[in-house]
Amino acid sequence: MVVWHNTKITKEDRIKLTKQKPCILWFTGLSGSGKSTLANALEEKLYKNGNLTYLLDGDNIRHGLNSDLGFSSKDRQENIRRIGEVSKLFVDAGLIVLSAFISPFRKDREFVRNLVSKDEFIEIFVDTPLSECEKRDPKGLYKKARKGEIKEFTGISSPYEPPLAPEIHIKNLSLEESVEKILNYLFTKKYITRKR
Ligand code: ADX
Repeated sequence: MVVWHNTKITKEDRIKLTKQKPCILWFTGLSGSGKSTLANALEEKLYKNGNLTYLLDGDNIRHGLNSDLGFSSKDRQENIRRIGEVSKLFVDAGLIVLSAFISPFRKDREFVRNLVSKDEFIEIFVDTPLSECEKRDPKGLYKKARKGEIKEFTGISSPYEPPLAPEIHIKNLSLEESVEKILNYLFTKKYITRKR
């Protein structure tokens, strides 16, 4: 049997130290939608504001922690489950976590939402249409997917289930406007305060 041990120093203590409300900023959207670019630009702003953050990104995590996983529905579910648990630990550590994963399935995103308190999960839908993602095709993956060289590619041969009620919806906005929209949300809801 494994017994949970409480620690002496708690999340509340760490919140006093960092003066920010830890949370998961969960970026979801198609490959090439701009999740990573947006998360990186936002993290830079948060850093400059004196906030402690950590960015988890699909392409990087799949090199390490999740290098054993592919892109079947089952593997994507496990990918998101592990990222969710890691994100939860980082929230407990007091960080603002930026998680950028396609996370195409609603039930997997809901699983992560339910891992933490209600206001600790902020779903950000990076709503770039497939046609635009395919036009950008930064890694040439859509081209390969169309030729059948990559199987189960999201948007082409594997589904993407858009969020029904995301906390933040990014649509038809420039990168700067998108960053501002999320920052405003965080300031207004008092996750962070403006650095004097
Ligand atoms: S997720 O669906 O499990 O959330 P994740 O965000 O970790 O995906 O990884 C997506 C990245 O893996 C894409 O940006 C792309 O570079 C790469 N990739 C490789 N194969 C696929 C595929 N079949 N479907 C989607 N992305 C793929």
